[in-house]
Amino acid sequence: MKKYPPVIRSVPHIIHGGDYNPEQWIKQGEAIWREDMRLAKLAGLNSLSVGIFSWAMLEPNEGEYHFEWLDTIMDLLNEHDLTAVLATPSGARPAWMSQKYPEVLRVRKDRGRNLHGERHNHCLTSPVYREKVTAINTRLAERYKDHPALGLWHISNEYGGKCHCPLCQEKFREWLQARYESLDALNDAWWTTFWSHRYSDWSQLESPSPIGERNTHGLSLDWKRFTTDQYIDFYRHETAPLKRITPDVPCTTNLMAGFDGIDYGLLARELDVVSWDAYPQWTGGNDTAIGHEFGFQHDMMYGLLRKPFFLMESSPSATNWQPVCKLRRPGVHKLQSLQAVAHGSDSVQYFQFRKGRGASEKFHGAVVDHEGTENTRVFKDVAEVGKLLSGIDCVVGAPKPAKVAVIHDYVNRWALQDIVGALQGKTGYIETVMAHYAPFWDMGIPVDVIDETRSLESYDLVVAPMLYLLREGVEKRIAGYVKAGGTFVATYMSGWVNETDLCYTGGFPGPLKEVLGIWAEELDALYPGDENSVVWNGRAYKAFDLCELTHAKGAQVLGTYGSDFYAGMPAVTCNKFGKGRAYYVAARTGPDFLRDFYEAVSKEAGVKPLLEQPLPPGVTAQARAGEHNTYVFLMNFTAEPRLVEAPGRTIRLAPFGVEMITI
Ligand code: GLA
Ligand code: ZN
Repeated sequence: MKKYPPVIRSVPHIIHGGDYNPEQWIKQGEAIWREDMRLAKLAGLNSLSVGIFSWAMLEPNEGEYHFEWLDTIMDLLNEHDLTAVLATPSGARPAWMSQKYPEVLRVRKDRGRNLHGERHNHCLTSPVYREKVTAINTRLAERYKDHPALGLWHISNEYGGKCHCPLCQEKFREWLQARYESLDALNDAWWTTFWSHRYSDWSQLESPSPIGERNTHGLSLDWKRFTTDQYIDFYRHETAPLKRITPDVPCTTNLMAGFDGIDYGLLARELDVVSWDAYPQWTGGNDTAIGHEFGFQHDMMYGLLRKPFFLMESSPSATNWQPVCKLRRPGVHKLQSLQAVAHGSDSVQYFQFRKGRGASEKFHGAVVDHEGTENTRVFKDVAEVGKLLSGIDCVVGAPKPAKVAVIHDYVNRWALQDIVGALQGKTGYIETVMAHYAPFWDMGIPVDVIDETRSLESYDLVVAPMLYLLREGVEKRIAGYVKAGGTFVATYMSGWVNETDLCYTGGFPGPLKEVLGIWAEELDALYPGDENSVVWNGRAYKAFDLCELTHAKGAQVLGTYGSDFYAGMPAVTCNKFGKGRAYYVAARTGPDFLRDFYEAVSKEAGVKPLLEQPLPPGVTAQARAGEHNTYVFLMNFTAEPRLVEAPGRTIRLAPFGVEMITI
């Protein structure tokens, strides 16, 4: 038995494939499908994803099913040794359904019902929609259960959005009743005595709306939690027949890293493998920012289950919905693909295999262009990646050797979006988390991005920027972790509210006061252009946006403010707690401070970069720890060549170059 079995048991390789819509070419006949197979093999693909958005071709009229075309495709895939990632079609539905059953149409927060059209637009509660989904999913599973091409179920597509229809409102009320049991408990948890907002009957409860209630923060959080639960419930509903009929075929749904409408920390627990769709906006110049952003997002997808994930979609060329559809510079496609693998992906998949002729994605990058042959630059790029991937089976299933965790938490993110105070909705949570992540990327130190509910034991260093919403009990796990010898870093705006968005009394950072050994008395929000400084280790670093006026209550003061009426007050502290240390950074700072600070803290915590010698700017090292070796990916995100000092040799990375070395 292999220590790290592949997700699709029959394919012990990095999956290389993508979204394929043969039904759009059904009138051209089998010839074009056979040509697709030839091209797929030439491009070094070992998989194709089919059935996404195929409902109208599978069930053109109610109860009238047409699987013949899909039968042919599945057989062709098998004949060509290509694994099918087979989708359930619920991401978009046929017009007959909306026409006959308007309840399947989604209702907006202004309470208007949408017309038929677009996609991702169904009611999550509608019994009719759920019944139709079960019917088609059951048929798909029955039909292909023994098909040798079937490798993975792709559930729907990019779940997202909310429905505010009467059916969903009723479900929401039931959900609230189960959560709070009594209306009194709900009123207290949401602080509804404010503005006379107390509810006296469950039937008065409604989802937040711009034409109704929008400032009861506990309600906003619960509505988002409820929506997450609705998606989990919908996912379970969709997968029930698949799990019953094809218990050995894993299931996933493709996530979106920039999206925060669902708590992926919870949804991911349902998935056999996490998968996501990544669309970096390459500039072709110094793309270090892309390296940071997508490194972070890949690490977040890895952190959801702390195991390898799939890159379900990426563009092999220009992405047509981005504001400037710039072409990829030579080398960038390879870099983008291997970046995913380096951070834990066991697949490189594309949107899309063949460009369609019409509608809004006809100019979206594809493996096969309208031109139709293998003679394009993009096709050759894809084929080169295919060849490369086929030579690195050794990384399949291999974990990331991360000793550092950065906490990113969806519920915390929602709470910070609602804040009325500080910098309003622009408190910059996600930017701050990424800013604290970037120094590790620059140093070549692997990181897991996890939420605040995960265990911390396996890490030497845990960084939790702006942990504003602290679920009760999380402080105990943090304290236990530090006591046992861990290093913890927190920042301004930590431990302000509990899970229903009620402020902690007794001083901030609330339940973290003891482990951090400080009291944050006030928060100063600065106008754009205003500056203070943090004086640390004999150097003054710029501070801006948010500066907390902090007192040491047991912690040692390492840095102080340089100016204003709080000059000399603590800005950086360290509290020795049990066998570990808890640091606090009281102000927002730039990358210079963060780099120097995390270099020092990592050293102190015994966390080492993958390579001993410092990496040049714009270059990172990331790793997969295989069964016998650790595979280190050196990646250059700049348009200039870079030299990297690896053990025993100097490696020259081409512009946007990548090299894999074994250590
Ligand atoms: C998303 C969708 C795909 C396609 C791509 C285009 O990720 O899942 O169906 O629309 O975007 O970039
Ligand atoms: Zn609804």
